[in-house]
Amino acid sequence: MKAHQLWQLGAKDMKAVPLPRARTSRKKHVCILIAAFVSVATLWTYLYPPQHYTSPMRDWLPAEPVRELTDQERASQVVFKQILSTPPVKSRRSKIAFMFLTPGTLPFERLWEKFFEGHEGRYTIYVHASREKPEHSSPLFIGRDIHSEKVVWGKISMVDAERRLLANALEDIDNQHFVLLSDSCVPLHNFDYMYDYLIGTNISFIDSFYDPGPHGNFRYSKNMLPEVKESDFRKGSQWFSVKRQHALMIIADNLYYTKFKLYCKPGMEDGRNCYADEHYLPTLFHMMDPNGIANWSVTHVDWSEGKWHPKAYRANDVTYELLKNITSIDMSYHITSDSKKVVTQKPCLWNGVKRPCYLFARKFYPESINNLMNLFSNYTLF
Ligand SMILES: *[C@@H]1O[C@H](CO)[C@@H](O)[C@H](O)[C@H]1NC(C)=O
Ligand SMILES: *[C@@H]1O[C@H](CO)[C@@H](O)[C@H](O)[C@H]1NC(C)=O
Ligand SMILES: *[C@@H]1O[C@H](CO)[C@@H](O)[C@H](O)[C@H]1NC(C)=O
Ligand SMILES: *[C@@H]1O[C@H](CO)[C@@H](O)[C@H](O)[C@H]1NC(C)=O
Repeated sequence: MKAHQLWQLGAKDMKAVPLPRARTSRKKHVCILIAAFVSVATLWTYLYPPQHYTSPMRDWLPAEPVRELTDQERASQVVFKQILSTPPVKSRRSKIAFMFLTPGTLPFERLWEKFFEGHEGRYTIYVHASREKPEHSSPLFIGRDIHSEKVVWGKISMVDAERRLLANALEDIDNQHFVLLSDSCVPLHNFDYMYDYLIGTNISFIDSFYDPGPHGNFRYSKNMLPEVKESDFRKGSQWFSVKRQHALMIIADNLYYTKFKLYCKPGMEDGRNCYADEHYLPTLFHMMDPNGIANWSVTHVDWSEGKWHPKAYRANDVTYELLKNITSIDMSYHITSDSKKVVTQKPCLWNGVKRPCYLFARKFYPESINNLMNLFSNYTLF
């Protein structure tokens, strides 16, 4: 019997197959030899660890199949690793970048103005209006439009707009955290609460979970191999909030971005629809810095009606009770889209402490502005 066959036999197999004495003793010898070899090898690795052993990369690179990285992968990983291990520039005054992704005029500017009031120098506003030039009702938004391009729902142009916003916002070295918001988003807390929540932690709030169902991994294409394996494919809400290092990673990435641009789009050859804005960042960060993201988004959206679009609140829906309900949620919730509908609920942990998950919420109809304005100082007390 060859050594590798012996290796494959578990203890149970050995008991079940009685072997002649002579062979058993020969086997003993082989076992001792193997054991000796293993201990020498272990000692050797301990004394002479391979070069990469102490590198932090070990913590986030998937361990499994040892594959020769492509030149592009190696280059990406070295850049990401460097970005992640470089402490953020200590700026005199940390600011939060509010990046609005909207087709045109923002209906809640006056509400946001109330939110920003008295906090000058701690925030910066950027507006990407993809369809028409917005009319601003608040002076805080005037002159904050960035160069914009057309955005088609579900297509890579959505991700392009997000990257455009990040690139503009990164130009300001004081911006330490970057929040993506839509025209239908509203704040759930007062400015100080939100500021301390985002600046006071080292993680990014990127939603990311494994969904084996039709709205998850069914959208994966093998054309993404070898860089993106199906087991790494993730799903999550588009509405992220990221720290500076992660914002840099997003605009520095070309390799994974291109994979999603080419192979995650609506109406693919095999009849599948993939939406890059729901998969690209959840997958990228799951692969590159899984412990650096919260796995939930700080922007609440209600999918509980199970429709193609989330629940949108009318003026009548907007009550103190509704807002209090949303702000008191402290568990993140995911459900798979397969027939099993597996629900995962996890406490929202902020620096290890359970806290409310959400700072912003969508989708609100423009007509709800007056209710929101009236309730604002009341519901944002907590
Ligand atoms: C963030 O990371 C830095 C460096 O790793 C660490 O010194 C600091 O305590 C962390 N802050 C929080 C709030 O975890
Ligand atoms: C997010 O999920 C990944 C698994 O995909 C896990 O490794 C990581 O620890 C999670 N992040 C946090 C902050 O719990
Ligand atoms: C608030 O939450 C309670 C308890 O979950 C629920 O019964 C109630 O209908 C909610 N109210 C609104 C306005 O969502
Ligand atoms: C906030 O609104 C609730 C519900 O309308 C009311 O009961 C409460 O007294 C209000 N609080 C303040 C401080 O106005």
